Amino acid sequence: MSGQIIAIDGPSGAGKSTITRLVAERLGLRFLDTGAMYRAVTLHCMRAGVKLDDVRAVASAAATAALRCEPSLKGPMRVFLGAEEVTEKIRTVEVTRNIHYVADVREVRELMVKMQREIGEQGALATEGRDQGTVVFPNASLKVYMFASAEVRAKRRQAELNGRGQQVLLDEVLREINQRDMLDKSREIGGLRKAADAVELDTSEMSPEQAAETIVKLAKSRLAMRTRRIEKENGTA
Ligand code: C5P
Repeated sequence: MSGQIIAIDGPSGAGKSTITRLVAERLGLRFLDTGAMYRAVTLHCMRAGVKLDDVRAVASAAATAALRCEPSLKGPMRVFLGAEEVTEKIRTVEVTRNIHYVADVREVRELMVKMQREIGEQGALATEGRDQGTVVFPNASLKVYMFASAEVRAKRRQAELNGRGQQVLLDEVLREINQRDMLDKSREIGGLRKAADAVELDTSEMSPEQAAETIVKLAKSRLAMRTRRIEKENGTA
């Protein structure tokens, strides 16, 4: 693995995407949105008319999805299925509702983990998801487990969906968030867990800028510690 890896995990609506993107921009790292990858594979399976509860069908559709992502230095990560950009099309309620069928499949996870590690090999990265610190990058330079109360997360998700012109009731969003938490936490492989060495960050009362600043400070102090250790080992301190 080459370069600095900042791995941010947590439940949906904790602010991971926005905050990780800000961290990446401030530190000059690429931003990897791993949820977008699972979303794109889900969209591909839905379009292909795959029976989503058929594990083998989902696994073989995922293998032919021609998924490509462009981790960005600025702005959201762009996602493609073949030549078609699906960056926006993966953000619908229908895709969100169906993701768990795809994210539960071992073969799909293996494929995603492989792609994510290959992206990590190409250089420094701020990545976010559910299993980035626990499974994909166990040696990340900094791991953060980000969370917020379910009510705060539901309000944020509602505002995000409204902003996209999708009108949804708060109760409905809260129910879906609780349901998704349960599915994400109970997933056998790559389930949502805090890595033993992750720093916990409660973003309930924080703005995205404040949360990003906290992580940037942590990342800088980790980097300084690592530099000092290397200098000491080389006798150059
Ligand atoms: O972060 P986002 O809400 O876009 O993620 C969508 C879903 O993709 C999550 O609820 C989870 O089921 C799945 N996912 C995952 N592993 C990741 C990232 C996302 O299983 N690393």
